[in-house]
Amino acid sequence: MYKIRGEVVEDIQKIKEVNDQAFGQENEAMLVEAIRKSDSFIPDLSLVAETNDGDVIGHILFSLISIETTDGNESVLALAPMAVKPEWQNKGVGSSLVREGLERCKAADYRSVVVLGHPEFYPRFGFVRASTKGIRLPFEVSDEVFMIHELVPGILEGIEGTVRYPEAFSEVE
Ligand SMILES: CC(C)(COP(=O)(O)OP(=O)(O)OC[C@H]1O[C@@H](n2cnc3c(N)ncnc32)[C@H](O)[C@@H]1OP(=O)(O)O)[C@@H](O)C(=O)NCCC(=O)NCCS
Repeated sequence: MYKIRGEVVEDIQKIKEVNDQAFGQENEAMLVEAIRKSDSFIPDLSLVAETNDGDVIGHILFSLISIETTDGNESVLALAPMAVKPEWQNKGVGSSLVREGLERCKAADYRSVVVLGHPEFYPRFGFVRASTKGIRLPFEVSDEVFMIHELVPGILEGIEGTVRYPEAFSEVE
């Protein structure tokens, strides 16, 4: 059994290990660290899945970014990265992290969440292709991998624009 809770200082090294193991490289853990040091970091929206014996087996991070529209900027959250330890994958931990994460984002009054990720995974949580809402990226990717979730249905109506990622994201490309 495991529970989902907000990160605390003691989790920082364990979160790095989860990301390193899940991705098989260090870039995503570096992204987490860069975001944590930036203004985009929202401590309450960095969540871990922890087993009863204190092992951190999963992590998800939502941070603040913006959509540049013709009228100004719309604040949105970026879901990135998320990771589950290999031996715990395909057991529902990732889905629990997404569901609990989205609930907390909504409870904190955020409006929408974007993700760049597996197109088979995120639609089950209500993510749709961002292009269908007129939301674009400033770089080329396959249309199906860039998705958006309205935390309040219809909240993006009339809003179109291009996502601007903060510097933390480009520091670790
Ligand atoms: C993606 C990830 C976070 C999902 O966590 P999880 O705990 O395994 O997910 P769940 O058990 O809740 O759900 C499993 C579903 O995710 C899907 N999934 C897992 N990895 C996937 C991948 N690389 N591509 C597409 N789908 C994937 C599984 O196919 C499964 O789908 P099903 O329910 O239709 O069988 C986890 O597999 C992981 O850490 N992967 C490596 C890092 C990564 O890719 N992070 C996400 C970047 S967008």
